[in-house]
Amino acid sequence: MPLHHRGFVVSVVWTLGLLFLGSVVHATESSLACPDWPTCFGSYLPEMEGGVFWEHLHRLVAGGLILLFGVATWQSFRLDDRRWVRRAAVAGMAFLAVQATLGGLTVIYLLPDAVSTSHLSLAFIFLALATVLTVGTSPRRGRREAIPERARGSLRVWGTVAAVLVFAQSVIGALVRHTDAGMACPDIPTCIGEWVPPLSNSLIATHFVHRVTGVLATLVVIGLAAALLRSGAPRRVARLALGAVGVVLAQMTLGILSVTTALAVIPVSLHTLGAALLLTMLTVLATWGWPDEPAPETSADSTDTLEPATAAAG
Ligand code: HEM
Ligand code: HEM
Repeated sequence: MPLHHRGFVVSVVWTLGLLFLGSVVHATESSLACPDWPTCFGSYLPEMEGGVFWEHLHRLVAGGLILLFGVATWQSFRLDDRRWVRRAAVAGMAFLAVQATLGGLTVIYLLPDAVSTSHLSLAFIFLALATVLTVGTSPRRGRREAIPERARGSLRVWGTVAAVLVFAQSVIGALVRHTDAGMACPDIPTCIGEWVPPLSNSLIATHFVHRVTGVLATLVVIGLAAALLRSGAPRRVARLALGAVGVVLAQMTLGILSVTTALAVIPVSLHTLGAALLLTMLTVLATWGWPDEPAPETSADSTDTLEPATAAAG
């Protein structure tokens, strides 16, 4: 397996862990535990206790991701001469630089809603990009059972619609969280006793829109899986689509639990992780809808070079 592909796989898993940790930072009210940035109490290795543990751990794990993704990007230039792969990897590095800056700004300016929401949004954009790179650099791409054109069409159109909808829903979720609208509707399934609450209050409106978009996203994910099952998609595609249905249902349950537990740390942190996992799965499905372009041939060991890749890439 080529090194850059391996690096992208690990980056995706690492990012999921980092997103979960970021959510714990907020949920445990540790966001301002380190008053300075990039150091924490003037040190890169502060006493790891209380809120500092979560906040500084998040920073250290973020540093690890930058190193890891940096190595994968460098390897892309060695092993893969497709222009889109190299460009996407460099864009990913730029996103990480902006993301670290947003993380710093949110601390320095005491958690402005816009910066905190942008921090979550860019994390999800980076995750989707790293996922596309993972699928695009897979040595198995184009060499496994072909996906019939009808299923490919569903993946391209409905897979992309579902992924974009889940991303939009996540940005709305971050707004719910950072504008403190999480308990604006304390009851469920109604909102302050109404099926359609008064929308003149912006907190109630944001919370209500998040619920409605959640239902819509769930229906689209179920519709995607049904369309794929009907169109004779290979088993690996059907399995992932059914997995996404399981995750979206779990995600709705975690959303409900977030409200009924008055935003307890575990359900809200798992709710962020569930959204990220769902976006990853849908991004894989959408990317499988693209025309198959075999990844460059490389030998399996770490001494892979670009040479054999040149003929296959294009
Ligand atoms: C060294 C760089 C970074 C710093 C200083 C930093 C700092 C922070 C802080 C202070 C929070 C809590 C924000 C709040 O309560 O509003 C947070 C949350 C978060 N961070 Fe980072 N971060 C960094 C890098 C990253 C990276 C590279 C990613 C992902 C690619 C990431 C993903 C997240 C996520 C998803 C949250 C949760 C946001 C939310 O709950 O809406 N962070 N980060
Ligand atoms: C497909 C369905 C859903 C997705 C993808 C989703 C995603 C998200 C995301 C990404 C966040 C922001 C977390 C963060 O900033 O770290 C969030 C927040 C939130 N979501 Fe959802 N959500 C969904 C459905 C629901 C449902 C059905 C409810 C039920 C009422 C709900 C309740 C909440 C609440 C209360 C918050 C704020 C948590 C807080 O303040 O800490 N979500 N959601």
